[in-house]
Amino acid sequence: MTSVGAGNLRIDADRLWASIMETAAIGATEKGGIKRLTLTDLDREVRNWFVARCENAGCSVSIDTLGNISARRPGRDNSLPPIAMGSHLDTQPTGGKFDGVIGVLSGLEVLRSLNDAGVETNAPLEVINWTNEEGSRFAPAMLSSGVFAGAFTPDYAYDREDREGKRFGDELIRIGYKGDEPCGARKLGAFFELHIEQGPILEAEERTIGIVTGVQGMRWYEVTVTGMDCHAGSTPMHLRQDALVATARMIAAVQSVGLAHAPDAVATVGLIEARPNSRNVIPGEVFFSIDLRHPQDTVVAAMEADLRHALDETVAGTRITFTFDRIWDSPAVHFDEACVSSVAAASEALGYSSRRITSGAGHDAAYIARVAPTTMIFVPCEKGISHNELEKAEPGDVAAGANVLLAAVLDTDARLYGPRDR
Ligand code: GLV
Ligand code: MN
Ligand code: MN
Repeated sequence: MTSVGAGNLRIDADRLWASIMETAAIGATEKGGIKRLTLTDLDREVRNWFVARCENAGCSVSIDTLGNISARRPGRDNSLPPIAMGSHLDTQPTGGKFDGVIGVLSGLEVLRSLNDAGVETNAPLEVINWTNEEGSRFAPAMLSSGVFAGAFTPDYAYDREDREGKRFGDELIRIGYKGDEPCGARKLGAFFELHIEQGPILEAEERTIGIVTGVQGMRWYEVTVTGMDCHAGSTPMHLRQDALVATARMIAAVQSVGLAHAPDAVATVGLIEARPNSRNVIPGEVFFSIDLRHPQDTVVAAMEADLRHALDETVAGTRITFTFDRIWDSPAVHFDEACVSSVAAASEALGYSSRRITSGAGHDAAYIARVAPTTMIFVPCEKGISHNELEKAEPGDVAAGANVLLAAVLDTDARLYGPRDR
């Protein structure tokens, strides 16, 4: 018997894996991944699945005005702020089975395991599915955990539009998940998010658990480049104002900014739309996105300055113009040291190899850290591949992460609110 967290209690690894595979069928792609963009019919389907499973586990489910779903397992004193677990069930267009999903379903599994063992916690426990973590359909990412934490207003979120002009707020109502509870009204005692690492470090070092100390800073930009549509056959090369050629130079400049601040910096153009996108028209307008990241905010700021200068240079002496908008700034986050220690102690007590790690990816925990003591637990994924249908995690690693989650949650309940009766 260890004194940390769960004692001999373990989650049911087979049941957790079966749940992951069940949800993987909702939006399954031919290549073995998932396409389940936020606020689509498939998102509604997986939400319905989740709500039904939580109710089966005896939880009361509430939905807030941003569609965040919280399932609560009562504790001894239900006036205490709950200790929450969770992540997201939305995916990228070519997403994998694990990104986000394991954080939600391991939370559910923790609640189920506590039910099986008849354990009563001091505080209620909750598992939360946050709306639109990915930011793929509606930018920015982590939108609804951001509203929960006060980083954005609800109206800002409702007004986000996808690339077809559909509004977040309308789509939330359409799928039937705009709830009554004011987003952010629910106070959390602590928040833990289990996630795949989405990078190569844990696998390379053969460690099972990443004790996540923080999340790197990230900024998103939108650029619209304007030239002139013209006939591809009859417009001589020297008379062209080709927005796509200018964009190609800009994309190379983005890469150069990333390389100039390597190895810790990354810089990406992930979304691009050329207009009118007809094979015999010189593109007159291009829209594209830029994603810059680095663990230090000062470096992210320096990257932005370099980028602006480099983009200006690409169009110097041409008739091409462009607009450049920073649409999101998510500063670097440092997680709560007591929660981090709890994860470290749980990994050690359970005998898992571990290391401290900073997250390269954004996560809902990054915003929740503003309003509650928060940390994350990482488990390895094969070759660090993520945001890819081939994303793969080992059942044993996912189970290990869920066991650490269970132990850290119980440890935190005891730390914040006193020892349990059993
Ligand atoms: C979220 O998945 C991000 O890191 O962009
Ligand atoms: Mn994720
Ligand atoms: Mn993701």
